[in-house]
Amino acid sequence: MEDTTGTDRGSATVQVSRLFQGYGRTMVLRDVDFEMQGGEILALIGPSGSGKTTLISTIMGMMPPKSGSVHVLGVRMPNREQLGNIGFMAQTDALYTNLSGMENLKFFASLQNVDKRRFAESAMHAAKIVHLENALNRRVAGYSGGMKRRLSLAIALIGDPEILILDEPTVGIDPELRREIWSELHRIADQGHTIMLTTHVMADAAQADTLLMIRQGEAIAKGSPEEVKEQYRATSIEDAFVQAGRDQDAHLGND
Ligand SMILES: Nc1ncnc2c1ncn2[C@@H]1O[C@H](COP(=O)(O)OP(=O)(O)O)[C@@H](O)[C@H]1O
Ligand SMILES: [Mg+2]
Repeated sequence: MEDTTGTDRGSATVQVSRLFQGYGRTMVLRDVDFEMQGGEILALIGPSGSGKTTLISTIMGMMPPKSGSVHVLGVRMPNREQLGNIGFMAQTDALYTNLSGMENLKFFASLQNVDKRRFAESAMHAAKIVHLENALNRRVAGYSGGMKRRLSLAIALIGDPEILILDEPTVGIDPELRREIWSELHRIADQGHTIMLTTHVMADAAQADTLLMIRQGEAIAKGSPEEVKEQYRATSIEDAFVQAGRDQDAHLGND
């Protein structure tokens, strides 16, 4: 991407600029502005209803911004072709329950331009990460909630995408598997890929390079977990988050 601004914006893999977004007349995101670099893991944290999924849907190009812009790998979203470079896991599993896990992987891999000759290998690799390799021939209708979540994650990973966007990937996943998934996410980031995820779990947030706290549609804090804790003189991310909320209320004149 050409950089004419003299800043390092040109190296951003995901760039969200002065984004306003909403549904109908209701504004949900106000002036959200941040960027990510290759190799970075960013955790978007915020209460239910704060606009995390709306932000992710906008980055994916499912909703054009009301104003402001989103660029992924230098391309302005929405852009259908760019979706081939993004591994996406939605908050609500979008799976074909009448098909087997393997058939789901095959279908979504075909949308992600996965090399057909390497499909079997890629599918097995992705399935192993989420411990589903022995359930792939079963119909998804018989999967538990956690298994569906894990299949959705495997689908997001299968194309080895440049950008990974995961909406609550650890919901319904036990602590041991959660740890293994984190070690895989770190490995993927170490290869220069960009990962953005949402979470309610502070232990997940602590694993990220960068936290972006969002509350009532505004990005209220951004930095490494250590920086965010320091900024709010908090001993935990959870305390920092609560304190950030109080500051925002005081600023807005809320009680
Ligand atoms: N399709 C929609 N139509 C209207 N309002 C919506 C829609 N989706 C979400 N919202 C509203 O937008 C706000 C943010 O929702 P969401 O982005 O899902 O938050 P989060 O993912 O942080 O829980 C909430 O007030 C929610 O009710
Ligand atoms: Mg959500």
